[in-house]
Amino acid sequence: MTEDFLSLRGTKYSPPIFLASGTAGSGKELLGFTDFSYVGAVITKAVTPKPRAGNPPPRIAPSYSGLVNSIGLANPGLESFVSEVIPEIEDIPAKIIVNVAGEDVKDYKEVIEGLNPFDLVTAYEINISCPNVKKGGISFGKDPISSKVLIEKLREATEKPLILKMTPHGDEYIQIAQIAQDSGVDAFSFVNTFPAVLFDIEKRTFALGNKTGGLSGPAIKPLALHAVHRLRSVTSLPIIGGGGITGYKDAVEFFLAGANAISLGTVLFSDTDSPKKIFNGLKKYISRHGLKSLNDIKLKNEK
Ligand SMILES: Cc1cc2nc3c(=O)[nH]c(=O)nc-3n(C[C@H](O)[C@H](O)[C@H](O)COP(=O)(O)O)c2cc1C
Repeated sequence: MTEDFLSLRGTKYSPPIFLASGTAGSGKELLGFTDFSYVGAVITKAVTPKPRAGNPPPRIAPSYSGLVNSIGLANPGLESFVSEVIPEIEDIPAKIIVNVAGEDVKDYKEVIEGLNPFDLVTAYEINISCPNVKKGGISFGKDPISSKVLIEKLREATEKPLILKMTPHGDEYIQIAQIAQDSGVDAFSFVNTFPAVLFDIEKRTFALGNKTGGLSGPAIKPLALHAVHRLRSVTSLPIIGGGGITGYKDAVEFFLAGANAISLGTVLFSDTDSPKKIFNGLKKYISRHGLKSLNDIKLKNEK
């Protein structure tokens, strides 16, 4: 399984364990805490053309088996990403994928064209699914036709792999996935958070400054598995599956649902060593089951 990888346009991500956008910073935050030899790629926090302050605090609230966040795509913007973040992450011993967000096609294109010259950026995760900002790409995530236009334009803008990060909310992802795979997307990253609300009962207010947010963590795992399994039924493209993974058993479930790789998000806040633990757990699982690789983890009662 050490040879297991996900290949996108000739770039190999090995092992097929990704750090989910927004939960690993730009990667440098985990230096010294995570063994990057168990990380196929760090997917950065979203990058937008201009700096974004994000949503008002509080931006994170705990819930049972998960958390609700409304960070709101806070990021220093493309210019600072190029001048400050890229030099800081040059030595990270893992591949970097940049999560790209915007309000319209022009925004996404600007970020991609600005980052194309940097070899360090190996792929783009196109975020059409942020539930926490009014114009966080979610308008694309809910509209197959505008998603098609977006992907076609971005395909023209880069040779690097394009990974589409979709929202599991509603049914539109099925249609978007079908259109996206014919428009030049190389893989899907699924799922993003689920729209959620928490209240502060003493103050009688919303718990988050933005009122609503997105739920992540173990609470969403069965919902995420359901969505990944449905997505698999309409696409043969690779799926980087995740949502609530905390241990190798969860990871196995995502492979059974049809994922080709997994992403670790909220778990990193409590266990930065999880990539190594999950890798080792998967390794033992496949040998215990007499399998050769992660690709052999298949449902026996699919039909
Ligand atoms: C604090 C926080 C910030 C996030 N920021 C982003 C982001 O900028 N772009 C994005 O596509 N997803 C973002 N996500 C979603 C995660 O990448 C992931 O899809 C989601 O949390 C589900 O996985 P998990 O349950 O393993 O955390 C964020 C999640 C959290 C918890």
